[in-house]
Amino acid sequence: MRVFNYMKTYLVTGGFGFIGSNFIRYVLDNKKDVYIINVDKVTYAANPENLADYSANCKFYKVDIADKTALSKIFIENKIDCVVNFAAESHVDRSIADPGIFIKTNVEGTLNLLELSLKHNVGKFLQVSTDEVYGSLGASGKFSEDTPLSPRSPYSASKASADMLAMAFFHTYNMPVLISRCSNNYGPYQFPEKLIPLVIINALNNKYIPLYGDGKNVRDWIHVSDHVKGICSVLEKGKLGEVYNIGGNSEAENIDIIIYILNKLNKPHSLIKYVKDRQGHDRRYAMDFSRINAETGFLPEYNIEKGIDSTISWYIKNESWWQEILSGDYKEYYKKMYENR
Ligand code: NAD
Ligand code: TYD
Repeated sequence: MRVFNYMKTYLVTGGFGFIGSNFIRYVLDNKKDVYIINVDKVTYAANPENLADYSANCKFYKVDIADKTALSKIFIENKIDCVVNFAAESHVDRSIADPGIFIKTNVEGTLNLLELSLKHNVGKFLQVSTDEVYGSLGASGKFSEDTPLSPRSPYSASKASADMLAMAFFHTYNMPVLISRCSNNYGPYQFPEKLIPLVIINALNNKYIPLYGDGKNVRDWIHVSDHVKGICSVLEKGKLGEVYNIGGNSEAENIDIIIYILNKLNKPHSLIKYVKDRQGHDRRYAMDFSRINAETGFLPEYNIEKGIDSTISWYIKNESWWQEILSGDYKEYYKKMYENR
């Protein structure tokens, strides 16, 4: 509880999702002067279980950030020092199938948060963004913060729009805004629609693993705990009005990620099924994160092997967490997405 005046109140959106819940657990474990308010709409991707042992230490509002009236009440009821905006529709495949909700949450929702933060004099606003706003790379080169925005999916277009609004609030109103752009995350509590948990779970269930296109698309993988630490570094030491790339130093082709997981689980490579490619599939992402390193000292601690090994162990130990998801609405999504693909 916020009982002492020296404590800071962070309003965290999307705190029941994958990265938001990892962030809240990390902050509550490590920063005794922070009180958390979690604002989450509780979509398919949310799970209150992700914060089961922490609920006594944060206040929760079931609110859609696109609902400005409901959101406004939270800013009136609480003195908020800092906003960290994780709330988003986050899956590229879903954005290709149904882009509208991505604009509603990721763009309109962010605008509402910016307007209310400005009105209530919030001390810091961190927009959690993604490397996907930069578009797609060829075989060489890396994204720096100066790379022009060139989003190519409805998801990345909505995130780029939100980044531009956040920066516009910095320049127009002198609002204390920061943006972090991170590469592909993996780790505990990730919803099984994303590549790494999908591969682990399908392999454990001896189900085929859908590999899009030629399987040679490259992502720079980062363990979620490194992302969370990067965000804390930006909050503590970042310059207002700046963008900070956060990367994992772990570029890998999708096929190699899958083979690594299958080998670890002693499963046959015959489980891999090449399927129709994703529309507009970005070829390669790679991050130059020298700015955050130079200004805050941030470096990722996990290498990809250690990170995937510990993630596999987490999914094995926490089978009930993902079995519950598999038996719910996700079944329908999976059928629609992968049957006849
Ligand atoms: P997630 O899909 O696991 O969780 C999203 C959370 O936001 C859920 O709890 C959901 O209920 C909540 N939410 C969705 N719409 C909302 C709304 N309208 N109002 C309030 N809450 C809402 O997502 P994630 O993977 O944890 O990603 C979190 C953030 O990090 C996103 O902004 C995403 O763009 C960004 N990001 C993700 C990655 C990645 O690899 N997953 C990489 C870089 C950046
Ligand atoms: P994903 O986890 O959806 O993240 P993003 O699209 O945001 O990078 O996908 C990671 C990579 O894995 C991407 O190149 C698409 C590919 N992929 C597959 O080959 N099969 C799958 O079933 C999924 C979900 C993704």
